[in-house]
Formats: sequence, structure tokens, C-alpha cells
Amino acid sequence: MCGIVGYIGPKKASEVILEALRKVEYRGYDSAGIAVSNSKIEIMKDAGKIAEIEKRNDFSSLQGTVGIGHTRWATHGEVNKQNAHPHTDCTGTICLVHNGIIENFAELRERLGKLGHKFKSETDTELVAHLLEENLKTAKGDFKKAFFDMLKDVEGSYSFVIFRQGERKIYGARKSCPLVIGIGKGEMFFASDMPAVLDRTREFVFLGEAEAAILSDGGYDVYDAAGKKTSRPSKHVDWTPQMAQKEGYPHFMLKEIFEQQATIRQSSAVDVNWAVNELKRAKNISIIACGTSYYAALVFKHLLASECGIRADAVIGSEFRSGVFDKGTCAIAISQSGETADTLSAVRFAKGKGARIIGITNVFGSSLTREADATVYIGAGPEIAVVATKSFTSQLVVLYKIALTLAGKKKELLQLHDLSGVAEAVLSKSGDVEKLVGELAKKKDFFFIGRGVYFPIALEGALKLKEIAYLHAEAYAAGELKHGPLSMLEDGVPIIAIGNFDENMVKLVTNVKECKARKARVLAVSDHLGLLAEADWKFAMPAVPGLFAPIIYILPLQLLAYYMAVKLGKDPDKPRNLAKSVTVE
Ligand code: AGP
Repeated sequence: MCGIVGYIGPKKASEVILEALRKVEYRGYDSAGIAVSNSKIEIMKDAGKIAEIEKRNDFSSLQGTVGIGHTRWATHGEVNKQNAHPHTDCTGTICLVHNGIIENFAELRERLGKLGHKFKSETDTELVAHLLEENLKTAKGDFKKAFFDMLKDVEGSYSFVIFRQGERKIYGARKSCPLVIGIGKGEMFFASDMPAVLDRTREFVFLGEAEAAILSDGGYDVYDAAGKKTSRPSKHVDWTPQMAQKEGYPHFMLKEIFEQQATIRQSSAVDVNWAVNELKRAKNISIIACGTSYYAALVFKHLLASECGIRADAVIGSEFRSGVFDKGTCAIAISQSGETADTLSAVRFAKGKGARIIGITNVFGSSLTREADATVYIGAGPEIAVVATKSFTSQLVVLYKIALTLAGKKKELLQLHDLSGVAEAVLSKSGDVEKLVGELAKKKDFFFIGRGVYFPIALEGALKLKEIAYLHAEAYAAGELKHGPLSMLEDGVPIIAIGNFDENMVKLVTNVKECKARKARVLAVSDHLGLLAEADWKFAMPAVPGLFAPIIYILPLQLLAYYMAVKLGKDPDKPRNLAKSVTVE
């Protein structure tokens, strides 16, 4: 949540920062701002998405070759210009941007208020600028000391990027929020995510938990939390700038949906042996995740039972106290970003109880990789749209590979490699899904139903529709309808029934008939002629080996949500109130 950027080099900072902010806008988009250092610090900021702000503000008028920038997802204080970052101290010479939450906000506000500081915003971030101003007095003008003293004083989660008038240095620090250093040719960057500056460098330094760094024209120095210099060599990443561009698609979401024909293949080649060895040693297994990743966890739980005969627990990150973790537990944490605060808290809780941790993530060097005993990268490439699409199918492919390796199912493992062809066939019929939207976009309530492993797929389909089309959508295990939800069915309510021809199909058809008897209208996503014959609308799926069908069946549901959002005039890449990586609990 919140995208932050810092730049020091020979170029015009405002231009470099603006470009970088556009690329991490998926992290938050309710306001944005840039500050550069000249003879004094100049700030331009406003409420709204960057494209709207640019119409009212000319960022290119900001001169200077050192600067910082921010795109916000509000926590403290409503969305307005005053609360937009960057923020400054009383003197206007210390300037910073922040991602995270300062938990001792009230105490700091009271303490600094009593010392005579005047606040211009309602944010927790601004307090840190005033705290630095105060620390600078006691540090007798030594800003580095003031900076490290500040880090000891603030509680909560943060990544900061800070600079000061008259000094060609940028100070950064992170705790439970991401911050990377980019090393360019004669220029240095701070960024919350690598895509911000992938077009400028592919050399990155991944700061550890509670580490800090100072960038200068000559390079970078990394420090531990106590302010002692430490070493963090850079790493070359193989993500390319093209991966973070739309490449002709109207939205990143559509591009990422179509990329799945390639990413499914890529992910099937990922090495899962470490993870499998950890699981073989475990006495019990818990899977931890949130949102879409949690639905991948539910599929994995199902697979462990059906393919390996192993009972596992699936725990929502924020509900970690409902899980049982001990020395015999292997906890598998699934997170696209590797930065989800709820998931990381659960991981730390499980570790505290002696559990071993396997991290399944898409982002190199993310916090989860540092907490985990073994990491599997799902290999989906950068996912820019706020909603998860290709990362979900890549998570599934990797989880299937783990379960099938554990079960020693060699023939099935080979089939996993061939799935991308079926994905291509489904995506080539995207026009059929788009046609359905004409009628469906007039509806307000949607019920997604599936049985067995299709229940998590129904949950994910409903989540997509809620997230980007802002429509009421619920998902049920189809057999559960008669235990209550049937009372909500009225004339014309759409039921989206999902499932291939497996042992559950006869019962799913019965459930669909029950809905139709109550005048609901049915969209069937299936390969089963019987179910398709019952439906008012249909998306006929090609034949897929039954075991793998869930990976493919989510594709038309992603397309459905996308076309619905577009039809209703919503921006599928930047849904209201959401952000890509959720770094607060
Ligand atoms: C997916 O479309 C969502 N935006 C959200 O549910 C997401 O899956 C969740 O926040 C978990 O994120 P993670 O995979 O990065 O941990």
C-alpha cells in the first residue's frame, strides 16, 4: 500500500519520479506528490489518480536532480491535498514519504505538539518529519544521527524515503513494508517495488527487515537497525521492462489474463523439490494466505487430501490464532506480493511456535522470502493490475506440482506441462464471454456455485466480480444453497454454475434445477452437456484432464469480471478502495 520512490542522479528528478510513480500506482491511487530539492524544497501534490493530478499540476516545472515521490492509499486522514505526501517539518527543510502505519502516532503527536510543532495534515507521516526536526536539535545538526534516533522512536510498520534541503543524500528505511534500492548508471533509486524502475535498471539491493540505507551520487550504504554499517550486495533480476507495460492491451488486467497461456507453462517448470522435502518431514501441514491466495490454499488443501491422502489446515492470514502450529508443523504461506501483513503476522506466529515455513511467492526478495525456511517462486512475472489473475493460476500450477511430486504421480506431472494449450483455447473464445455481458451487466446480485475443488474457484470468480465491477456476488458450495441462501433467489437472479464432468456433476445439475425452479437464470461454465443444456447462458469448456480443470475453469470467470467492469465503466486495473499489496493488518 502506497508507492514510494526516491531519485538521485544527473537527470531531472521530477520526470524520473513521475514515470516511476505511474508504474507503482497499483499500490495506491487516492493522491500523489513529488518533492525536489533546489535552493529550497519544492513540493507538488494533490488528491486523485496521477493522470487527474497532472491535468491540474505541471510536475515538469519542478527542477532539481534529487527528489522523492509518493502515491497514496489512505490510512490516517481523509483523501485530500493536505494529507497527500510528501510531508515536511516546521522549517520546510526536511521532507519525507512513507508507506505503513505509525502505531505510536497519538503519543508522538502529543509530545511534538507540546514542543510547539504545528501540523499541516492529519497524517501519522507528518509527525516523523517533526520528530526528525526535533532530533536534529539534540544531534547538534548531525542528520544521520537524527535519522537513526527517529527509527528507534517510531513504532509500527514503515518504509520511509527522506531527504533534506542542501544535502545530496536520500535516507531510506523499512520495517514490515517493502523498499528496494535500484542501481542505475550514475544514478540511484529507492522504490517500493522493482517495476517502478525496471526500465532504468535490473540491479537491485533488497533491504532486510528493519534495515536502513543512504543513497548518494557515489552509491549506497546499508545499515542495521542500530545504525551500524552492514553489507548487502546487489542482485540482477530477470524481469524485463516490457513485462511491466501494457503492450497494446487496453488494461493490464486483460494483458495478464492473456499472459496465462505462457505463465502456466513457465510455472510448471518451477523447482519445487525443497518444498517437497520439507513437507515429507512434516507431521502436520498448515496453509496460510489471504484473498485470492487463500482460495489457492483451499485448492491445495483439497489436492493434498485427494492426491496424497494428507489432511491439512487452511488458515486465513488475519485469523492465524485459529490455527494450530507446533514443532512438527510445516506452514506453507502463499502470497503473490510476499508483503501481505496478515500473512506475514501468521507466519511469525507459526514460527514462534516452532513451525517450519515454506513461502510461495511471485516477488523476488520480498519479506516472505526472508521469513521462510524455503521459498518457491511461482514465476508469473510482474503482476501490475490490482486484482490477481495470472498469479492465481501460477500459484495453482506450483501447488499442483508440489502435491503431485509428493504423491509420486509422474504421468500427471507430465500432463501439467501441457495445460497451457488448453488455456490458449479457452482464451481464444474471450469474445463469447464478452457477448454474455450485454445481459448480465443489467443484474445486481450474482451467485457462484461449485462442488468440491470448484468451490474455491467459485469463490475466486465471485471475488473478481466484486473487486472490479463492484457487484454483489456470493459463492457457495452448491450443496449449501438449500441450507439457507435459496431464500434469496428471485426471478432472473443469475447463478453461475461451475464444474467439469466429475463425480459431483449429477448433484450439481440437481442444484441448478433447484435454482431454476425458483426462477433463477443460470450461466453454466462446464464441459458437461447435461449441465449446459439446463443453462440460460453457456460457456462450453474444452476437454481438460479432470484433475487440472480448476486451473483452466477460472479463466472465463476472470474474463467475465473484466468485461463486466469495462461495460459498467469501471477501471479494472485500479478498483476503488483497494491496493495491490496490503501491508497493514
Ligand atoms: C486479489 O484479486 C486481491 N486483490 C487480494 O485478495 C489478494 O489476493 C490478497 O490481498 C493477498 O495478496 P497476496 O497474494 O499478495 O498476499
